[in-house]
Amino acid sequence: MRIAPGEAAPAEAGPAETAGPLSHARSWRAGIVQSVSAPGVFDLGPGYLEPALLPVDLLGAAYTRALEEYGSAALGYGDDRGALDLRAALADRTTVADGITCEPGNVLVTAGISHALQLIATILAAPGSVVLVEETCYDLGRLILTDCGLRPREVRSDSEGMDPDALRDALAGERVAFVYLNPTFHNPTGRVVPVSRRRELLAVTARHGTPIVEDDAYAELNLGGGPTPPSMAGLADYHGVIRLGTFSKTLAPGLRLGWLLAGTGTIDRLAGHGLFRSGGCLNHTSALAMTALVLAGDYDRHLGWLRERLRERRDALVDTLLAGLGDDFELDRPDGGFFVWLRALRRYREPDLLAAASAAGVEVAAGSRFGGTARPSVRMAYSFNSPTRLATAAQRLTTAWHAVPAHTDRT
Ligand SMILES: Cc1ncc(COP(=O)(O)O)c(C=O)c1O
Repeated sequence: MRIAPGEAAPAEAGPAETAGPLSHARSWRAGIVQSVSAPGVFDLGPGYLEPALLPVDLLGAAYTRALEEYGSAALGYGDDRGALDLRAALADRTTVADGITCEPGNVLVTAGISHALQLIATILAAPGSVVLVEETCYDLGRLILTDCGLRPREVRSDSEGMDPDALRDALAGERVAFVYLNPTFHNPTGRVVPVSRRRELLAVTARHGTPIVEDDAYAELNLGGGPTPPSMAGLADYHGVIRLGTFSKTLAPGLRLGWLLAGTGTIDRLAGHGLFRSGGCLNHTSALAMTALVLAGDYDRHLGWLRERLRERRDALVDTLLAGLGDDFELDRPDGGFFVWLRALRRYREPDLLAAASAAGVEVAAGSRFGGTARPSVRMAYSFNSPTRLATAAQRLTTAWHAVPAHTDRT
């Protein structure tokens, strides 16, 4: 069922069939939010939370608490590096998670990871510089680097992440500004780089004095597959690694709020930029609302709740796909994050898989969007639909993909 703009949802509709919590359905429309699925479509494309998982009431209370606690200071220009209370809270969380000492001076509050990447690409790298990225990587991260005048180069990667030998060769070949990695619950593959591979990659970059930019957008979304490996920044004691975090995947992308962790020299350099000098920290009022949320313990409670919801969604999608797809397709149950990465035998063609999905009323993301892929691939997000809808979408996909003709001349 579809709720037309401006129309109230009938009470019996049920959240699974609407665009989100009934009280907010009227506003989830083009011109207000970035993307709206076509009516009737099961959209497994978006890499963000579905409306029903966005904590409207929790955030309303957090803003109220921040205004009560900080008063007019919540409405002034914020400290250039971000409010000290939030930086201290984030530093404490990092100290606990990584077992190293992280201070507020190691934290810069940003308008999310996209903003942090743009800062790094423009302030820490000269235009035209080469940046190394994984063979299959977050496409919009790569777009930011390209738009800032950098030249991303793919480095061969396997099921454990970037190949250290290929990285060594790439670094020996030319001058590189930095290496961009997303080692934990990778977008799009869901992969987690094991500790041993993290250490190998760190050893290679340290030998060349090349920094790593560690995109940790999904690090807090471990869905119960064992402990999350220590961050690469933590393993290196924050020497030669800049680590990026965000509230977009755990709370709400509309906040446009995240953080950057690095050595104090790097933080000083970034925070000295005119963008911060003129205007202070971006999204200062939201930063104080998040401070209230984190300090009250509400953020951790929310994370527990969200992980449970995401686990149900992941399992609904993966269980139905595994039950229906035969040996021509391969997928792993991701231990965290938002994505299932499906690989087909080479005799299938990616456009045929996408077309069959579309014809069945299901949208998925083309694997080739994310760079080089060894086989025809598809990314499916389980973050943007209810478990019931994901199971229905997966059933439709298995039926549709079984009917796709294999190109025997292409095996
Ligand atoms: C790996 C990765 N990094 C960064 C982002 C964007 O983060 P932000 O909303 O904080 O800019 C995304 C969102 O899809 C992502 O998947």
